[in-house]
Amino acid sequence: MHADDPNHPMAAVSPEPGIAKPDPILTVDAVSRSFGGLKAVDVDHLEVQRGLITSMIGPNGAGKTTFFNLLTGFDDADSGTWSIDGTRLDGKPPHVVARSGVVRTFQLTKALAKMSVFDNLMLGAAGQQGERLTHALFPFLWRKQEAEVKERAEELLDRFKLGHMRDEYAGTLSGGQRKLLEMARALMVRPEIILLDEPMAGVNPALVQSLLGHVTALRDEGLTVIFIEHDMDVVMGISDWVVCLAQGSIISEGLPRAVGSDPKVIDAYLGTHLAEEATPADAPDLAPESTAHPEEPTS
Ligand SMILES: Nc1ncnc2c1ncn2[C@@H]1O[C@H](COP(=O)(O)OP(=O)(O)OP(=O)(O)O)[C@@H](O)[C@H]1O
Ligand SMILES: [Mg+2]
Repeated sequence: MHADDPNHPMAAVSPEPGIAKPDPILTVDAVSRSFGGLKAVDVDHLEVQRGLITSMIGPNGAGKTTFFNLLTGFDDADSGTWSIDGTRLDGKPPHVVARSGVVRTFQLTKALAKMSVFDNLMLGAAGQQGERLTHALFPFLWRKQEAEVKERAEELLDRFKLGHMRDEYAGTLSGGQRKLLEMARALMVRPEIILLDEPMAGVNPALVQSLLGHVTALRDEGLTVIFIEHDMDVVMGISDWVVCLAQGSIISEGLPRAVGSDPKVIDAYLGTHLAEEATPADAPDLAPESTAHPEEPTS
């Protein structure tokens, strides 16, 4: 159901930063992270509704990636608590967070170039497996689990149409295929929440629709998707809810249309554009500079 539909599950939720959700799966409180004197993240309260696509927008440097890093244990917060269905995740390392049901992909793809596509997927299951000692004592348990993990990998290769690349080095994949591999790898642990950091950045436009199709399919299967994206057409098209960060804090959240036309949001983008480009005559462009990172490996 599109977010413009009056029967959409979020239609009656008031567009206010920190507003309670009817059925939150993820709840975040007072999370902050500073780098030197810069407060990169300072989020008072956020609830993420279960089973929907929540987009995070905000100008370059707003703190979106840092927020993802904190939630998934890849960086340590200075303060704050967050939980999935009441299970606290703050202070937990990434593999524990993943086992609790929260996985992420990276703005810069992390696929290991000199490892096969299949082995990259198998690596995604690490952390799902039990203790080494258990494996040593009960090898039959491990063999059963390994068989299941392999089956899951094959299933995901199929789903993301990477089967023909199964035994190739991940380094031979195109940018878009690498994004798919990363999504597949995150799904190995059968998560409940997937955080996607600009999955479309640097992807051939021809593949964008297919990537978006995968994102909505995940939502339609019941996953909760949190999605960092700069392209406002994409955000308007697939989001059920939008959260805008600026200078580390939530300045607006609501249905896509409401946030897209919120003067505070437009100001935030205009502000950074004025600062960065000093072109005051420019109208605010809500899809700022490309976030395809030149340092991203292309082969
Ligand atoms: N490891 C770090 N050390 C120092 N400063 C950092 C570090 N990581 C992020 N920052 C700073 O924190 C702020 C938020 O950065 P972050 O990458 O989270 O922004 P973002 O919203 O993801 O931006 P973009 O849209 O460009 O990806 C920026 O000012 C950035 O320079
Ligand atoms: Mg970022």
